[in-house]
Amino acid sequence: MHRLLTVLIVFLHYPPGWSNVIQTPDRIFALEDRSAHLTCRHTLGTYYNQMYWYRQEQGSLTRIVYTMVNTKSDFGSFSVEKYSAEKENYVNGSFTVKNLTADDSGVYFCAAASHSEKERWNS
Ligand SMILES: *[C@@H]1O[C@H](CO)[C@@H](O)[C@H](O)[C@H]1NC(C)=O
Ligand SMILES: *[C@@H]1O[C@H](CO)[C@@H](O)[C@H](O)[C@H]1NC(C)=O
Repeated sequence: MHRLLTVLIVFLHYPPGWSNVIQTPDRIFALEDRSAHLTCRHTLGTYYNQMYWYRQEQGSLTRIVYTMVNTKSDFGSFSVEKYSAEKENYVNGSFTVKNLTADDSGVYFCAAASHSEKERWNS
């Protein structure tokens, strides 16, 4: 039997200056073993062709994946069995959490980045 989980709650607290990053949907309620698919787009211009996806846990941020247009996504130590991500074009990106378990419940969000500006989030 599947348990109903509150798996994802995204884009709750963007700091000032990030209001031009749009994530959908803002909430996903998903069943165990299924997948949750998030999309993100921005209005920052063509220069911002990179996107990061994070998970927020107990006040700290974990970067799950780095994506860039026409480039293989970099999951670092995270498994591609568990996550997938695509950067379709300079505006749009997507992120999927697969084989959902209760441990996947939480807050996830994306950040857009440009080449020169490494990661506005950390600066
Ligand atoms: C990005 O996604 C939005 C919403 O799905 C779509 O309307 C838009 O055409 C996409 N942009 C590009 C450059 O494909
Ligand atoms: C994850 O889900 C896929 C398809 O939904 C399934 O084929 C695969 O066996 C699952 N992997 C694990 C480790 O449960």
